[in-house]
Amino acid sequence: MKLYSAELNEKMSRILQAGPVLPVITIDPEDSSQGENLLCALYAAGIRVYEITLRSPAALPAIKRWQAKYADICVGVGTVCTPQQAFEAHQAGAAFLVSPGTTPDLLDAMIDTGLPCLTGLATPSELLLGYQRGCRVFKFFPAAAAGGIPMLQSFSGPFADVKFCPTGGVSEADFLDYLRLPNVLAVGGTWLAPAPLLNSGDWQSITSIAQRSLKAAQLR
Ligand code: 3PG
Repeated sequence: MKLYSAELNEKMSRILQAGPVLPVITIDPEDSSQGENLLCALYAAGIRVYEITLRSPAALPAIKRWQAKYADICVGVGTVCTPQQAFEAHQAGAAFLVSPGTTPDLLDAMIDTGLPCLTGLATPSELLLGYQRGCRVFKFFPAAAAGGIPMLQSFSGPFADVKFCPTGGVSEADFLDYLRLPNVLAVGGTWLAPAPLLNSGDWQSITSIAQRSLKAAQLR
């Protein structure tokens, strides 16, 4: 059984503390400038930690370009669903990996990369799968549909040493309620760069949403 180290839990926690609001980004492969414009809009808001999802083939090539543009950013790869994708994300320069769920094979592959990981879960049994390997920081997905805040409060009983990044169905209206839970380090989602604003290229509005979300997160 491959084990995930305490040091990697620590690294993942530090990444989430540096990025308490984590934009989940899917780049349009048909629009080569969209990803860069979005990065600039979020960077201008003070966002330094990003999750680029593998839902678009444009994700992996963007990582090194983004890191070359801003030295102080941390770009993770999300929607890692297969061992091969974990390997490819590592090769492409991902700073951390995010998966929507957890299976033994996927955990092995994610651990093999040596990268900090946020494996996904929606149930206590999935949590135990990662917990037995040493994981203490997880993505709670899909947060709203899987029980939201009451579920995270319930997790805090049996899993007192576990921290979460809830994602999926979180909005600008409720992200702070999640973030104020003692077992939540960061909250992720697309509310920071909503699809209509992204598609219309309204970068100023995206900067405004991200700026006020980040500020509220820092003052929580
Ligand atoms: C994810 O992969 O984390 C989610 O798809 C983001 O969900 P959201 O669009 O509801 O924020």
